[in-house]
Amino acid sequence: MKQGKFIKELKRSHYCGELRSSHAEHEVILMGWIKKIRDHGGLLFMDLRDKTGYVQVVLDPKKKELKQVSSFGLESVVAVQGKVCLRPQDMVSNKIQTGEVEIMAERCELLSRADTPPFLVDDKNVSESLSLKYRYLDLRSQRLQKNIQLAHEVYQEVRKELSAKDFTEVNTPILYKTTPEGARDYLVPSRLYPGSFYALVQSPQTLKQLLMISGVDRYFQLARCFRDEDLRSDRQPEFTQIDVEMSFVSEEDVIQINTELVQTLWKKFKNQNVGDIPSMTYAQAMDEYGTDRPDLRNPLKMKDISSIAQGCGFTVFERVLEKKGVIKSLVFPRQENFSGSRLKKITEEVRKKGLGGLLWIKSLEDGTFKSPAEKWIQPPVLQKIFEEAGGEKNHIVLLLAGLPQEIYPAADFLISSLGKEEGLIQENQDQFVWIREFPLLEYDSGNQRWKACHHPFTAPLDEDLSLLLDQQKLKTIRAKAYDLVCNGHELAGGSVRIHERKTQEAVFKALSLSSEECQEKFGFFLEALRYGTPPHGGIAWGLDRLLMVLSGTDNIRDVIAFPKTTSALCLMSSAPSPAQRDQLLDLGIQIIKKPASPQVED
Ligand code: AMO
Repeated sequence: MKQGKFIKELKRSHYCGELRSSHAEHEVILMGWIKKIRDHGGLLFMDLRDKTGYVQVVLDPKKKELKQVSSFGLESVVAVQGKVCLRPQDMVSNKIQTGEVEIMAERCELLSRADTPPFLVDDKNVSESLSLKYRYLDLRSQRLQKNIQLAHEVYQEVRKELSAKDFTEVNTPILYKTTPEGARDYLVPSRLYPGSFYALVQSPQTLKQLLMISGVDRYFQLARCFRDEDLRSDRQPEFTQIDVEMSFVSEEDVIQINTELVQTLWKKFKNQNVGDIPSMTYAQAMDEYGTDRPDLRNPLKMKDISSIAQGCGFTVFERVLEKKGVIKSLVFPRQENFSGSRLKKITEEVRKKGLGGLLWIKSLEDGTFKSPAEKWIQPPVLQKIFEEAGGEKNHIVLLLAGLPQEIYPAADFLISSLGKEEGLIQENQDQFVWIREFPLLEYDSGNQRWKACHHPFTAPLDEDLSLLLDQQKLKTIRAKAYDLVCNGHELAGGSVRIHERKTQEAVFKALSLSSEECQEKFGFFLEALRYGTPPHGGIAWGLDRLLMVLSGTDNIRDVIAFPKTTSALCLMSSAPSPAQRDQLLDLGIQIIKKPASPQVED
């Protein structure tokens, strides 16, 4: 009763984190959580926290109104009335924003008493499982409050920027039908139609295309997406996209609008001028970096030295070249960093990635070369290979021989891990690149059928369209698809879509979808294509990934208020959990016990 009365009588005047020397002598009323409390020679010093930060409050427990305070306990919620005073010069702290001032308390009311918390908020050594179980406590930390605030500001900026460019925000359903993003669906049983299920949208892909057919012209949505797939540090089962679709556009138009969005966001939130963003084809990215997500802050890239290696007399190389393989090189400065034992370890890692082995050539101070291949390759040839690779004095050249698909994972690993270890990554400026001309289709050997690399609504390049009719050429068809990559993260992906029913049917055919399957899954969509479909294209940003890069974290859970573990569990609510028997009866569902599947370790 008393606590309610206090809240009615007194209104908060300031946030804790906003107080500065300019507020000196102001009477303030603050409300927040007790972050810390300590007794110094009879005076109590309390750090009072709210979403903006914290401020030091000085309390004299000898005063009648303050004598209870020492019993309040950490994380209890209090209201403090008092005066802002400048701290004595030798007590000013530049570690916190409010470090010039303290509050001399006249009154401190307990609004809610906290039990002893399971960990100290802001303690960096708490296990992730404990902090996720008590997520609401962890969210009180400045680090996570900052990220939540950042997310909010990014939402507002994206809305502002896209609205100013004539985009209309439209909400689309979450309870829907299977959508073609290639992950497993989260199914929701229908009570009214027992045995039938909604699927939670993996993305609003068909819905946004239908909005183009509906004449909306430019659409965006901060869209919730749900995918039952293997999780990683940058993947959640439930995440948010900035989903965009535009009518009457080419690839260039979508890329231009989204480049401008990057420029705006990076200027506002990182004070970085991004400038023009380079483009690279998928083929070039794989050729040079072994991945379609190259981190361009890292100067390392592969060079093809097959023509020099040809005829060098080394049988391993020659056998690889005979089998249509290639020889690639990677150059590192400071050969002295690569001891025999380190090279042995690196070779073992490369083997784990599926490559037969690794060869190296070092250029020494005295101008000579050293390599385990000395036994088979003549010194002048060794030197020629070294120089062709771009090696200079005191460098080391690593050589990778194999089929391209064997080399890619090993090269990607070497470039990213050794780039980091050798301190080659220039961390001060984010580096973006558009990757274009992805393959349209890839062969899924497990299911022995072709599947769409992006999704089946992606248009082939005009010059590759006719290849759809030739089963032997499916692999070579390039798509009007693009990804935006930043520092090695895929931030966004999209494509120009097929807007002609005939082409759409040809792609479904290439994907070996029977006409019954097409009808069942996408019949409504194919039908819509018949009634006047504008050429259109779009993109979706992983908004959580964007926030990861903006906030400088490498864990997606840091930018989501209530994330799941990598085993898709919510440790706070213990979801998922068994349903009640009568709920299942209502839905006509019977649970069949399956042999336990191995749990992914968090
Ligand atoms: P795509 O599947 O490439 O395309 O997804 C677009 C972007 O969404 C992000 N993303 C994720 N983020 C967190 N957790 C996940 N599980 C996850 N999966 C994807 C990535 C990715 O680049 N409908 C198409 C877009 C289009 O064609 O317009 C789509 O969803 O950052």
